[in-house]
Amino acid sequence: NRKRKRRKHQEEEEAAAEEEEESSGLDSSSDEELDDGGVEATDVFESKEPASSCQKKEARKESGPAPSKQPSQPAVFIHVDRLPEMQEARLRLPVLAEEQVIMEAVKENSFVVLCGETGSGKTTQVPQFLYEAGYASGIIGVTEPRRVAAVSMSHRVAKEMNLSTSLVSYQIRYEGNVTADTKIKFMTDGVLLKEIQKDFLLQRYSVIIIDEAHERSVYTDILIGLLSRIVPLRNKKGLPMKLIVMSATLRVEDFTENRKLFPVPPPVIKVEARQFPVSVHFNKRTPLEDYSGEVFHKTCKIHRMLPPGGILVFLTGQAEVHSVCRRLRRAFPFRRGREVAEAPTDTAEEMRRFKKVKLKKTVSLPRIDLDNYSALPVDEGDEDRQAGIDEEEGSDLELGDPPADDEEKADPSLPLYVLPLYSLLSPEQQAKVFRPPPPGTRLCVVATNVAETSLTIPGIKYVVDCGRVKKRFYDRVTGVSSFKVTWTSQASANQRAGRAGRTEPGHCYRLYSSAVFGDFSLFSEAEITRRPVEDLVLQMKDLNIDKVVNFPFPTPPSTEALVAAEQLLVSLGALEEVKEMERARLSCPISPLGRAMASFPVAPRYAKMLALGKQQDCLPYVIAVVAAMTVREIFEDLDRPAATEDESSTLAQRRARLTQMRRLWAGQGASLLLGDLMVLLGAVGACEFAGCTPKFCEENGLRYKAMLEIRRLRGQLTNAVNSVCPEVGVFVDSKMAPPTESQVVCLRQIVLAGLGDHLARRVQQEELLDPKWRNGYKTPLLDEPVYIHPSSALFKTLPPFVVYQEVLETTKMYMKGVSAVEPEWVPQILTRYCHFGSPLEVPSPWFCPSTGRIKCHCTSTFFRCGWQLPAVEMD
Ligand code: CDP
Ligand code: MG
Repeated sequence: NRKRKRRKHQEEEEAAAEEEEESSGLDSSSDEELDDGGVEATDVFESKEPASSCQKKEARKESGPAPSKQPSQPAVFIHVDRLPEMQEARLRLPVLAEEQVIMEAVKENSFVVLCGETGSGKTTQVPQFLYEAGYASGIIGVTEPRRVAAVSMSHRVAKEMNLSTSLVSYQIRYEGNVTADTKIKFMTDGVLLKEIQKDFLLQRYSVIIIDEAHERSVYTDILIGLLSRIVPLRNKKGLPMKLIVMSATLRVEDFTENRKLFPVPPPVIKVEARQFPVSVHFNKRTPLEDYSGEVFHKTCKIHRMLPPGGILVFLTGQAEVHSVCRRLRRAFPFRRGREVAEAPTDTAEEMRRFKKVKLKKTVSLPRIDLDNYSALPVDEGDEDRQAGIDEEEGSDLELGDPPADDEEKADPSLPLYVLPLYSLLSPEQQAKVFRPPPPGTRLCVVATNVAETSLTIPGIKYVVDCGRVKKRFYDRVTGVSSFKVTWTSQASANQRAGRAGRTEPGHCYRLYSSAVFGDFSLFSEAEITRRPVEDLVLQMKDLNIDKVVNFPFPTPPSTEALVAAEQLLVSLGALEEVKEMERARLSCPISPLGRAMASFPVAPRYAKMLALGKQQDCLPYVIAVVAAMTVREIFEDLDRPAATEDESSTLAQRRARLTQMRRLWAGQGASLLLGDLMVLLGAVGACEFAGCTPKFCEENGLRYKAMLEIRRLRGQLTNAVNSVCPEVGVFVDSKMAPPTESQVVCLRQIVLAGLGDHLARRVQQEELLDPKWRNGYKTPLLDEPVYIHPSSALFKTLPPFVVYQEVLETTKMYMKGVSAVEPEWVPQILTRYCHFGSPLEVPSPWFCPSTGRIKCHCTSTFFRCGWQLPAVEMD
């Protein structure tokens, strides 16, 4: 039976859509026992003492030479038949010189740390060393924090080894080419974490390589913590396993000096890279506003004035990358074959005229039945356009690209071969950066920090560094994260500069002053210290790690963050409620509901909604709403100031159009009370009904990429729900009918159950001591009023109680994603948030024949702030 189960699991695994690097998800929870020979998987995390005597003993055994009889001990060396040119290229990599040292260390130790400059060959070569040395008895697994690296590296290694992609494969959240024969598997760290949930001992793997450990992504950190225990367990069972941690910087003390993680410090092998000198040029002044404009000008200047050599530009995000690519292509057009399409010949004026024409069309409204969002007309003739989308141009929806500067006159004699590079770019597009540019052109790659350490682009001589990075920030008050652009760290800036000296001496142009550089932090902090951890805590509890505080984090999150996470999870019912003392020790065990929630790849608040979703056939709607809330920024940003007068009028028109559509999607009467979540549902429903075309999205102010992601996430969530609860049998319905009135009520209650800690109460007239509280709302944790955002469907309604998705601070503190709540639901649905008073005298208790219980009315208050709520019926 167990065998069958395992086989089923393997199949599932192969089929399963996997985790994205950024997503917090887990796969379907499994009730399968861990086949760990009776070793409780979590025993190893329970001990308060970092290195108990037994662990110490084990660790010592660890670091000593492994017994020679062990099954995965390399016995046979496997010959790899490389093409001569590949062999020649790899012999030039610094890591090759260290092959013997590395392989000896791996043979002698279970844990090895490998440091080496980017481009020294760690990612591409170490898996090959292991393969050749006979470690491929199981799978050699390599984790990357970024999808783009997992895909690109698997292709590269397959090519270098002259093996098919069925042997050297990859798996990322939504796709992969792993087969039963796979020997080397590149994957995102989230994918491996999910596999640990299915098989704690990772029995199919013989070696795990954690790559890019210096990035300190949350999943990488957690994986290292988990593997520090899994590897000894495997060794104990006679199924030896190796862990190799690879890092681009030499700051590895968080791993090597952490006795809780590795009782005996693992050996650190350093690979000296051949690096040519890079002259660093600082700007005299630091542009604070339009740094991407500055980047554009600097790149133009380098191209016009400096000798041949590739240019690598660092920006912070996809939109910036596209915008700068477009400006550069316009300034230095390059035509050849299909690239003609990439380098529009239009002058700025023609572009403007073109946009005007298009916008005129946009403004005319389709005929719509006001109450039925699924009755929107289907756009015809869009298939071609959709098929012809080019990642670099077509799918980009932002308007208002600044017109090409007159100062940067097109110079046809010097074509610039401009390529974008960022995480979400399709594999075919990103592979282009590794190929030599067309003869007679100069390569210019405009990238996000994916090019910092994950990928090495050949032939780069000049680096243009904007000095910034886009990071996810977490607001402790609202508990919601957001992306912000901030200064990068000195270590990152130096990594960026280093990209210029790979093949010959190079130059790095920093678009900030040396004083600003001096103020940068030395290293980027570990992501885990900057974000809420409720999703991680839930995942760990699902791995039966009850005392999360004892987990060997390379850098632990703050106790405050752990307590907040545990509290939220108890409130959501994902953890069992235990005595005060237990709770203080942060050791609440997971509940059956928590197990179900852990299997949904979304944040716990949303997972709770999914878990409740099957009532009244609401599941398809809950899935659509949760997907839309998880994918950020589904509406085009129309609030930004316009660049030109021309643009300002088009922006105004688009805003008017979007307001109109929002009103339409929000519906009327009952559905309006679901508020902004109804707008999301309406937008998803209408967009799917129209076939999710770029045209529909553009006309209706939706971001096409976001809508595509929602579509994929809906599929993934539907699979996850079906595997937890097969009897529900939910499916993705592209022609979803709008919810009925009673379904809307049900949806509002489900939303309340998930967002209970984001409850806000309208300030009553008699409380208006200060005029600033007019139309304001009170929240349990903030002293200041918060307001319903003007773009909200409930802006004019001002319901007495609402829940919100996030609080965003601009001119005021605005709630976004607002949904109205009936006060009497609060004590009934959020029982864990409420205090109940003594039974009320009137009306007196009564007998309920259907339940056989005595019932009475109790007063209730919202415990976080003592708000009076309606009396509630209690047993
Ligand atoms: O991991 P590390 O940064 O140490 O180096 P790597 O990614 O293994 O890259 C080693 C070399 O392979 C670099 O010189 C890259 O330019 C080259 N490479 C390539 O030409 N094409 C790829 N798709 C990947 C790497
Ligand atoms: Mg690498």
